[in-house]
Amino acid sequence: MDEIVLACQEAIESLKSSSKLSAFEIDQIKSEFLGKKSELTSRFKSLKDLPGSERQAAGQKLNQIRQALEAVIVNAHADLEKAKIDAELSIKIDPTMQARQKRQGSLHPLTLAYMELSQIFTSMGFDVVEGPEIETPYRNFFALNFPENHPAITMHDTFHLTEQDLLLRTHTSTVQVHAMAKHQPPLRIATPGKVYRCDHDATHSPMFNQVECLVIDEDCNFSQVKWLLVKLCEAYLGKALEYRFRPSFFPFTEPSAELDIRWNGKWLELAGCGMVHPNVLKEAKIDTQKYRGFAFGVGIDRLAMLKYGINDLRVLYENHVDFLKQFNESL
Ligand code: PHE
Repeated sequence: MDEIVLACQEAIESLKSSSKLSAFEIDQIKSEFLGKKSELTSRFKSLKDLPGSERQAAGQKLNQIRQALEAVIVNAHADLEKAKIDAELSIKIDPTMQARQKRQGSLHPLTLAYMELSQIFTSMGFDVVEGPEIETPYRNFFALNFPENHPAITMHDTFHLTEQDLLLRTHTSTVQVHAMAKHQPPLRIATPGKVYRCDHDATHSPMFNQVECLVIDEDCNFSQVKWLLVKLCEAYLGKALEYRFRPSFFPFTEPSAELDIRWNGKWLELAGCGMVHPNVLKEAKIDTQKYRGFAFGVGIDRLAMLKYGINDLRVLYENHVDFLKQFNESL
């Protein structure tokens, strides 16, 4: 074998014995023995100086040397790869060791409720939109036909911001005002979101969630709002309900009603609804001769409490892991 091939093999062997063999080092040896400045290349270059009769044989010999060198390099790479695999396989594993517990988070029940209700609305052809939580008294009250001195406006149940004449919205009905300002009828929107009132006990929280629905069209009527509201609750709760509509009052709807459902032998208040008051439509410059509307607002927290059998609303906001992890299944 030619001395160059031997030298190359030795170079590889010495790297192996000093355990410095790496792909980079192998490539360095490759360029040393096969590269432009290698002895082999200069021998190829000097072929032209040989007499014609010797040139062919010498050329063949050099080609054999090149092949032999290339084989040494390829083998070195293969050995390296094998050594890596052997090292990985030789790691001892203990199959009896206990596995690390996988901790999987879950979506909050209210997030699940938002998602499910939005899906139901979308499947019924509604646009699901959101509105701001900080509002002007105009959008929260006056555009919705609240008289100037309506008790709901007092500090008692509204969080007013001190800096400007702004407040935290007390209901999602504000989004009706936004929607009517932006779009001409026919309108079909659903808007879930957080609302704020100064209330705090087992069934009231100062921040809670509602989903509002507004439809404005040429032939809206009260039986449609009743049907839609009941269907929405039944679709979300997954069962037929025993319910009643109680006449009620909201400044922005006329006539107005509240929906109660029978739950564990008691009537539970779940939603407010009604035909949009003509004053609200007029304020939004909607032709009341042509269009009518209906709206309802449902408490999302109440719905979630019913769905999951929760007695105290406050657990929804306390973030106890033991409570929340029960919703893993729902993912
Ligand atoms: N905004 C009312 C509330 O928060 C609910 C409601 C919405 C009533 C739409 C009628 C129509 O109590």
